Amino acid sequence: MYKIIDGKKVASEIKQEIAAEVAMLKIAGKKIPHLAAILVGNNGSSETYVANKVKDCEEVGFKSTLLRFGNDVTEAVLLDKIAELNNDNDVDGFIVQLPLPGHISENKVIEAIDPRKDSDGFHPVNLGKMMIGLPGYLPATPFGIVELIKRYRIETSGKNCVVIGRSNIVGRPVSILLSQKGMDATVTVVHSRTKNIQDIVSQADIIIAAIGSPAFVTAEMVKVGAVVIDVGTTRIESPETKSGYKLVGDVDFKNVAPKCSYITPVPGGIGPMTRVSLLRNTLIAAKKD
Ligand code: GUN
Repeated sequence: MYKIIDGKKVASEIKQEIAAEVAMLKIAGKKIPHLAAILVGNNGSSETYVANKVKDCEEVGFKSTLLRFGNDVTEAVLLDKIAELNNDNDVDGFIVQLPLPGHISENKVIEAIDPRKDSDGFHPVNLGKMMIGLPGYLPATPFGIVELIKRYRIETSGKNCVVIGRSNIVGRPVSILLSQKGMDATVTVVHSRTKNIQDIVSQADIIIAAIGSPAFVTAEMVKVGAVVIDVGTTRIESPETKSGYKLVGDVDFKNVAPKCSYITPVPGGIGPMTRVSLLRNTLIAAKKD
């Protein structure tokens, strides 16, 4: 029988740990961590993510600030706001929710963030530090994935790990973390130009699916006993939910789960771990002041 990796439960435990640290900071008369989030436009998924991030801050006792801009905001205005947040001593860390409208360069925006305030761990300085194993801010989703694997004591050393997807925010960085000393996995990254994806994935002891394509990972692709981590969060219309939408992962859960040793659900798997990683990065930033 497969085991569910309960990201929601682990994230809630970590939130309690963070809340306890915040309470200690308060008692010691220290500054309360403050996370700011920039949201551009009204993309439904981004709205939900940012609302949840603000809620998380409240739950652990952080201060949070949400800064909203219209879809037509210029790159220059956004870069000015980032410069302002970089210089605002009350803000410990901030994020710019992605994706941004097409007329704004995401790379320029990310590079404008002070690496010391980069709670998402997207700045090239933090990604470079991660590459060579120096302390810095790890990208939130890969950080969450690794933490979940560690807390479930899933063996990674010498295991064949296949990462599906090569995005800058998930696939590529998680492939680096899993191959590092301490994790010691043998990592293969497959992507849209890979030949024989099915053959490669079927050799995996650990599958990390991060391509944003519902039910991409089917039962035929999964070795018996594999660990399956589903990072997909595609929002589809659903008459069953109050909001009219539901989140679906990259894995055909119903058919894949019976072949697995461990599997993450969507929702309630990696999503809550990403959010909690953002809080951890912000706490680290606040304690550095
Ligand atoms: N868009 C999708 N995931 C993320 C994330 O972790 N951080 C930000 N800033 N934008 C995202």
